[in-house]
Amino acid sequence: SEGASGERAASGAQASEKMAGHGEVLVSTASAPTNIAVVKYWGKRDTKLNLPINSSLSVTLHQEDLQTITSVAIGKDFEGGDRVWLNGKEETDLASNKRMQGVFSAIRERAGDVVDEASGEVLVPSAELKTYKIHVVSRNSFPTAAGLASSASGYACLVKALSQVFRVKEAHEGELTEIARAGSGSASRSLYGGYVKWEMGTRDDGVDSRAYQVKPEEHWPNMHALICVVSDHKKTTSSTGGMIDSVRTSELLKFRAENVVPARMKAMEEAIAAKDFPAFAELTMRDSNQFHATCLDTYPPIAYMTDTSHNVSRLVHAINNESSSGPICAYTFDAGPNAVIFLEEDHVEKVLKALLADFGPDSAESSEPFVRGQTTLPAADCME
Ligand code: DP6
Repeated sequence: SEGASGERAASGAQASEKMAGHGEVLVSTASAPTNIAVVKYWGKRDTKLNLPINSSLSVTLHQEDLQTITSVAIGKDFEGGDRVWLNGKEETDLASNKRMQGVFSAIRERAGDVVDEASGEVLVPSAELKTYKIHVVSRNSFPTAAGLASSASGYACLVKALSQVFRVKEAHEGELTEIARAGSGSASRSLYGGYVKWEMGTRDDGVDSRAYQVKPEEHWPNMHALICVVSDHKKTTSSTGGMIDSVRTSELLKFRAENVVPARMKAMEEAIAAKDFPAFAELTMRDSNQFHATCLDTYPPIAYMTDTSHNVSRLVHAINNESSSGPICAYTFDAGPNAVIFLEEDHVEKVLKALLADFGPDSAESSEPFVRGQTTLPAADCME
């Protein structure tokens, strides 16, 4: 719900506490959703700051089982410096995790004073707060690195929780999305709900490379997404590594960034504003296809889609061919084999039935399990 309103949530924040005998300890918990790009980000012009070669646009999926929940505790007297536990496992080499370190220092730089709400008294001045050690515990409610953009919700959530506990106030709109972007590009878009664009920007310092909400979720209330988990195995080529190879070797990627994406961003924003599903669907599918084409154009090639992914794509086109009023469903695939299918509520039953007939547990393709289809945005008809 916090994402749906488009506001960065303070709702997940929990009260600060003083814990006797352990000095000052402040805690905060936040949740952040994942997002699925319908105009894909692929390629960086700056790998340190995650500055992209093209703008992108995504839909935030607010489903509870597709999010990250992160608790941050900061304290003066914590032993062992900053520490992070992801999905129950401690990050052993935090010092060399440049992205995480970058987020920590960007937040510390912006720390505010801890103020007693009732009296206005400054309890911890920002200069002291900055020196507090950070402990992070973060958990995803879905398989990590299975092409479901776990880094997006992960870094968005980390930035949310840290900004709450360090009393960071944005100096300009979208400042926190810049910090999340430096953690993982797609995370910039997970700080807002609904339809979100990430403007690539032109500056070298990345200050204009931020995300903005295009439309809130309520703008298109009957929009749904079916998450079709083809495989929950870890992906073979990371987005970060894949992008570096694509930028280095793919001429198609350069063409796409310069000649295709700018007009597509505009067309996509117009389709969303007009709730024009056929236009939204065609743009979404074409963009997914072109992204995967740039992966194949990378040398050596990167293949994220499997045979099952291609069969899902074929089925979607077959369903759409039967429709006299243009496409009724649209697939998109990220850096993994799983399909996300957008469709309006009226068509959920029909499309889900067709998907389960071909890929469900009783189908011929069930050996590569189509683990489950599930609708999100905003209803939740879960199917195992
Ligand atoms: C295919 O945001 O995971 O999902 O910036 O290196 O962390 P880094 O990459 P990441 O890449 C996402 C790529 C994508 C498309 C998209 O979400 O726009």
